[in-house]
Amino acid sequence: MTEQHIHDVLILGTGIAGLRAALGIARRLGPDADIGLVSKVQLMRAHSVCAEGGTAAVLAQDEGDNFDLHAWDTIKGSDFLADQDVVFRFVEQAAEEIYRLDRMGLPWSRRDDGRILQRPFGGHSFPRATMAADKTGFHEMQTLYDGLQEHGNFKRYDEVFVTSILVEANRFCALTAIDMMTGQFLALRAKALLIASGGAGTLYGFTTYSQTVTGDGLAMAWRAGMALEDMEFIQFHPTGLVPSGILITEGCRGEGGYLLDRSGERFMAGYAPDKMELAPRDIISRAMMTEIDAGRGFTQADGLDYLHLDLRHLGEKKINGRLPLIRELCMKFVGIDPILEPIPVRPVAHYSMGGIATDIDGATGVEGVWAAGEAACVSLHGANRLGTNSTAECLVWGGICGDAIAAYLQSGAALEPAPEPAIRAEEHRVFGDLLARSGTENPYAVSHELRRLMDRYLGVFRSGEELVAGLAELERLRERYADIAIEDKGRIYNSNLVNLLELENLLDLAGVAMSSALAREESRGAHARRDFKVRDDENWLKHTLVRKTADGMHTDYEPVAITHWQPVERTY
Ligand code: FUM
Repeated sequence: MTEQHIHDVLILGTGIAGLRAALGIARRLGPDADIGLVSKVQLMRAHSVCAEGGTAAVLAQDEGDNFDLHAWDTIKGSDFLADQDVVFRFVEQAAEEIYRLDRMGLPWSRRDDGRILQRPFGGHSFPRATMAADKTGFHEMQTLYDGLQEHGNFKRYDEVFVTSILVEANRFCALTAIDMMTGQFLALRAKALLIASGGAGTLYGFTTYSQTVTGDGLAMAWRAGMALEDMEFIQFHPTGLVPSGILITEGCRGEGGYLLDRSGERFMAGYAPDKMELAPRDIISRAMMTEIDAGRGFTQADGLDYLHLDLRHLGEKKINGRLPLIRELCMKFVGIDPILEPIPVRPVAHYSMGGIATDIDGATGVEGVWAAGEAACVSLHGANRLGTNSTAECLVWGGICGDAIAAYLQSGAALEPAPEPAIRAEEHRVFGDLLARSGTENPYAVSHELRRLMDRYLGVFRSGEELVAGLAELERLRERYADIAIEDKGRIYNSNLVNLLELENLLDLAGVAMSSALAREESRGAHARRDFKVRDDENWLKHTLVRKTADGMHTDYEPVAITHWQPVERTY
């Protein structure tokens, strides 16, 4: 029997965007706010906690930085696919978010003169990565959650796995969910929903993401009729630790680290002579794969050939002061002390520029539903995000969405009636059909194959031929998915069942991403086609929008908002 809970607003995902929105709503509505915070993990284990290097903001206008410069860096970094009105709103609001967290007690790293320290990051022409050493995400989440705890008006739904977003007549009605701890099926109803559940990084085998990042919010929004935008643009961060893929922050290069080939050459001189190791990520990742493919890297039996990230010249004091987590990770995971030895790294799946299509205020096409952070595509990052613009985006659009939702609630938004037939149907699908399954396939084998497929066909470089092959293999994986057995028939902490639901989400998103990539016959930002090597503004200066319809996948295109600068050739 389904258990129902009612709130004014549900926030799906408790990372930086979700917590920032909750704080905004709680502050604006005071004791009247009634917020449900829903997470499939314990609240502080949201993947934002892994953000390392910093949060971009223009803080030092008196020292030469300014909003136009940050906007230009972001737009050029995006390969001109970012919506420029969105970028200006972002750069103008980011600094206020940093100062708000400062007032709330976040221990930002400081300069000797007491001002907040900022370090350089790729593609930024001024040091604007605002940081708490290399544990920025952890401190941001903790500060936001501490702030939220001053307001008693929220309820946590930890370890609650959402299975669907129910929408009727284009209005939000409810979430359905499994309370993993009790095995109870839930219907969570509210007047408004914020989707802030992050990206889909475990589509890949070699990834910086926590294993919990399975694109659930994106896939459920897509199945509920919302458009997914620009999903072909997947960012590969240049420095994933080999062999685990753990993020080695770009802050290492911001502090002066070098990328070296096997002969000890700083090969970036041949690709981005002005910016070297601080070029944007798409350019460095392509350079690294080119070097590796040409045999100038270090070879490994498992195929994860690598290059070196050398920090030795930074010295012990700087490494311990600015990059303590990186040192600890290297020592624990590969037995290397970066003070003494270079770090083995290669490009790694790190971020989805695409997401649920929203307007500039974070509203989706469904009334009562907003999206923020990596789950959303407000079109800030275009075809390639600059490092540190994502945690800043989470703060800025967490704030914007929180304000918009508070205003929506204050305007007298109504609770939709419980969509009983849809709730019953979903409970039956999950606890009837899926749990009863007795096929012959192992879910973990299918999931492993999916990740192998994505690593192979939708990597740093892709081509039409590979994508056609990838889509055909994906179809076969779908057939295998339909024949998966669920061994655990219990309801309490049934990770077997939850993993199956996660796999369904990943399969849907792989299809959208590969189809969008196949359709876009140009190279732009992180989308590097071997068979269409150049950017084609005449035909492709537009956003991809994919919807699920009764007749299958439907793709549309929308113009980019060009309010300040026309595209030019992108050199660094
Ligand atoms: O390298 C990093 O610390 C990652 C930052 C980001 O993706 O913004």
